[in-house]
Amino acid sequence: MSFKGQNCNNFDEQAVIADRVKAIAFERYGYIPKACVITFGCQQNVSDSEHLKGMLISMGYTLTEEINEADFIIFNTCAVREHAEDRVYGNIGKVKQIKKDRPKTIAAVCGCMAQQEKVAEKIKKSYPYIDIVFGTQVSFRLPEFIYRRMNGSPRIFELSLENGDIVEDVPVSRDGKFKGWLSIMNGCNNFCTYCIVPYVRGRERSRDPEKILEEARAMVKAGYKDITLLGQNVNSYGKGCEHGVNFAKLLRMINDIEGDFRIRFMTSHPKDCTIELLDTIRDCPKISLHLHLPFQSGSSRILKLMNRYYNREQYLELIKAAKERIPDVALTSDIIVGFPGETYEDFKETLSLVEEVEFSSLFTFIYSPRNGTPAASMPDPVTREEKGKWFDELLRLQEKIAAKNTQKFIGKTYRVLCDSYGSEEGFMSGHTSGTAVIEFEADESMLGKFVDVKVNSYNNVFKGTII
Ligand code: SAH
Ligand code: SF4
Ligand code: F3S
Repeated sequence: MSFKGQNCNNFDEQAVIADRVKAIAFERYGYIPKACVITFGCQQNVSDSEHLKGMLISMGYTLTEEINEADFIIFNTCAVREHAEDRVYGNIGKVKQIKKDRPKTIAAVCGCMAQQEKVAEKIKKSYPYIDIVFGTQVSFRLPEFIYRRMNGSPRIFELSLENGDIVEDVPVSRDGKFKGWLSIMNGCNNFCTYCIVPYVRGRERSRDPEKILEEARAMVKAGYKDITLLGQNVNSYGKGCEHGVNFAKLLRMINDIEGDFRIRFMTSHPKDCTIELLDTIRDCPKISLHLHLPFQSGSSRILKLMNRYYNREQYLELIKAAKERIPDVALTSDIIVGFPGETYEDFKETLSLVEEVEFSSLFTFIYSPRNGTPAASMPDPVTREEKGKWFDELLRLQEKIAAKNTQKFIGKTYRVLCDSYGSEEGFMSGHTSGTAVIEFEADESMLGKFVDVKVNSYNNVFKGTII
């Protein structure tokens, strides 16, 4: 069988191969085989894994969370920090014993880490029980890889980063029933000096707006109430495309879809966050009042070294504009502590920015050198221990701000999506349009419905009552 699918950017040929896998897999195992997908990393990877699951179902597998009973195991990996990579190696090591017990099991490693040649080499040499390794842009060829391996092909290594078009119509099996991811673009062109993502995800490519709208409509029809648009930098959506639809326009188009649902999006890069976008959030009732706007560092000097294309003042201006237009907006951010050459004076500027903006929550990271990125070869004299102290100082400050913030919620009423039942019998929890989670009394039948909840108290979690 030839594999034209390697060079074409649709799923048609893979769908045919998926059918063949279905037949030979049943022969191979004598029962309906099970697949386990293990995901590391960001929401983009979670969304990609939902497509891996969709493809696996189309090949006749059922899904399991239990790695020990799986006939196909796949690790979808993340390379953003060293810690993420270490966790992956720890986990793929487990496959050795599993394959001893169940020799017909097939194991694969894919995603951002697998895309790096050095990693692929290491797996080739040191993890001989891994059958298939493939990169981020060829994941739609999963049926073909499994088919080849089942038919006796040598171990498969496919890393090509060809910046091809986005492949449409890959099957998807979403984890949630009410909350779902919708990827609108791939890759990143920003090359922040610390970041590996542009190297492992390739150049930025936007999906066709019609395809996105089609998928959004289908999700609303299927009962999704909370749809998060995904991309490494969503507000540069559509750049360089002929269709002329930018991110703000795309949001308005999705907002116009009939139905009762919420739209979220991430991540926004401050350099591309326009007033048009802020006005769109204000004007469109379905867009949630949340802006994740990573600033990384409060020091203009460090921002320049990071290649972020904005300075402290511009970021604060943007926050001011956002707060003026959208008074109830929940602001969140990512911060890197201990970028090479950062001094305590620089770090204090990060602290003062956090104090000034009062974010709802923060994702904070200690800088982790990534092979091949410019920052990895910059002088980095501050010890890890010292950086750890700065990091703790930042956490303490954010805790203080969060404690003050929670008081603002008490006594107010919020529209909440009932999205998780049973942390306690008879209790539901749900998200506001921002980032807060409220627990309240409700029965299971309310799952997936919007309700108005008045917040009564806070003790690690907000407690409220439906009004
Ligand atoms: N595209 C998104 C974020 C992608 S990675 C954006 O630009 O905001 C998520 C976060 O991981 C980044 O915002 C950054 O804070 C952090 N990060 C990326 N590379 C890192 C590194 N080498 N060390 C520590 N944190 C890093
Ligand atoms: Fe990485 Fe910067 Fe791209 Fe975000 S915008 S993925 S931090 S290079
Ligand atoms: Fe990690 Fe890749 Fe996301 S490196 S953070 S999984 S884009």
